[in-house]
Amino acid sequence: MGSNAPDMRDKARILLVDDDPSLLKVLAIRLQRQGYEVKTAESGKRALAALPGFRPHVVITDMRMDGMDGLALFDAIHAKEPTLPVIVLTAHGTIPDAVDATQRGVFAYLTKPFERDQLVEIIERALHMFGEPYETPLDDAEWCREIITRSSTMKTLLREAWMVSQSDASVLIRGESGTGKELLARAIHQASERRAKTMIPVNCTAIPDQLFEAELFGHEKGAFTGATQSREGLIKAANGGTLFLDEIGDMPLQFQAKLLRVLQEKEVRSVGSTHASPVDVRVVSATHQNLETAVAEKTFREDLYYRLNVVTLEIPPLAKRREDIPMLADHLLEHARSERRNSAADVTGFSKEAMELMISAPWPGNIRQLGNVVDQCVVLATGPLIPASLVQRALRRKEKAFLPFAKARDRFEFDYLTHLLEMTEGNVAQAARLAERNRSEFYKLLHKHELEPELFRRGEAD
Ligand SMILES: Nc1ncnc2c1ncn2[C@@H]1O[C@H](COP(=O)(O)OP(=O)(O)OP(=O)(O)O)[C@@H](O)[C@H]1O
Ligand SMILES: [Mg+2]
Repeated sequence: MGSNAPDMRDKARILLVDDDPSLLKVLAIRLQRQGYEVKTAESGKRALAALPGFRPHVVITDMRMDGMDGLALFDAIHAKEPTLPVIVLTAHGTIPDAVDATQRGVFAYLTKPFERDQLVEIIERALHMFGEPYETPLDDAEWCREIITRSSTMKTLLREAWMVSQSDASVLIRGESGTGKELLARAIHQASERRAKTMIPVNCTAIPDQLFEAELFGHEKGAFTGATQSREGLIKAANGGTLFLDEIGDMPLQFQAKLLRVLQEKEVRSVGSTHASPVDVRVVSATHQNLETAVAEKTFREDLYYRLNVVTLEIPPLAKRREDIPMLADHLLEHARSERRNSAADVTGFSKEAMELMISAPWPGNIRQLGNVVDQCVVLATGPLIPASLVQRALRRKEKAFLPFAKARDRFEFDYLTHLLEMTEGNVAQAARLAERNRSEFYKLLHKHELEPELFRRGEAD
């Protein structure tokens, strides 16, 4: 595994920024003696450059610096990593500055000169903001152990996830299919105080409309034909725990108001019942759709949208964090091997070329697709190292299988229309008739796919 091994550093990392090199050195030595790992930067720009590689737990910066000052640096950090604590050191206790700093979200300010203990105390507070010990929530913490990543955007996302998990705020997780939305929802549940109770996943796409209400809200005996006894719904089953509403964009419009009421009143009324009973759930929802469009098109209630979307966490697609691919591939290989203990070939890893191919592949199906590719390679491998040819083969298959619905439909329409135009040699009237579509509708389709019937008219071209 080598460089792909998880980050095992056990010291808290502090990035120290000051444009006075001698002060920088003195402070760095003091903090190192306290057991911190310290990196120094002599300007705001250098500090920003050091962020992704060093991944500090805390940034300490001087306020007055040439070029980018402490607050400008804070703003730049905050734009990228809104939860990274920044401590600002001020020279003469310029109170207006300091007030401005805390209002902006600076973690703390400290007036020079200060005692070493004062600074250490603030650093420790910043480190423990994420629980005990400071290494949680990220490096090796139980709640997010299953989420394999080394990408700094993912680490930032996880830190935000940990912070929201400590409240009951509703969370909306966005991300392409297979990016790990459900995994993140589980992690949030695990990190929260509700972990002793269950997380109930509800796949809004999978439940037929006519069953939706009873499934979600429960029903009384005799509420409808076939309801021979009363049943608790999924919301009630999540009482005290977390309700995970997957593919929330597909929730039928007619039940959205009822769900909103549950969230607002914190009580649920089952089908056929005259009274509501109290329920205490935290809602995490997920979608790969654009909910704003759904709101604009009135298929999703705006009030429910705001209720569910107190905090948004967006998981980046795998292609935007390729640095995760080697780690994930190794992890998934380990998983696949443990599932197939008696397989003849004892696969130990990927060839260099195979790994390079995976690192550069497009991954429209994200981590789920990567898992499928790895599984397939493990089954078909005949030696200890998986060759590039096997990866290539698995990728070719999966790329087709993993097109998102809209893209797959587009591709189908295009192929279908080209086929029709070829058959009819560009005769639109005939093609439309074969497709059983009226002509103007058919023209619209052709236009959408930028297909020109003239190009299919053979006789004229010759
Ligand atoms: N960072 C990760 N580390 C390890 N495994 C991961 C990671 N992200 C996703 N996976 C795995 O990839 C698969 C897909 O993840 P998950 O079901 O959470 O995705 P999803 O975003 O909910 O997908 P969909 O939109 O298709 O429902 C799961 O098997 C999950 O365990
Ligand atoms: Mg899912």
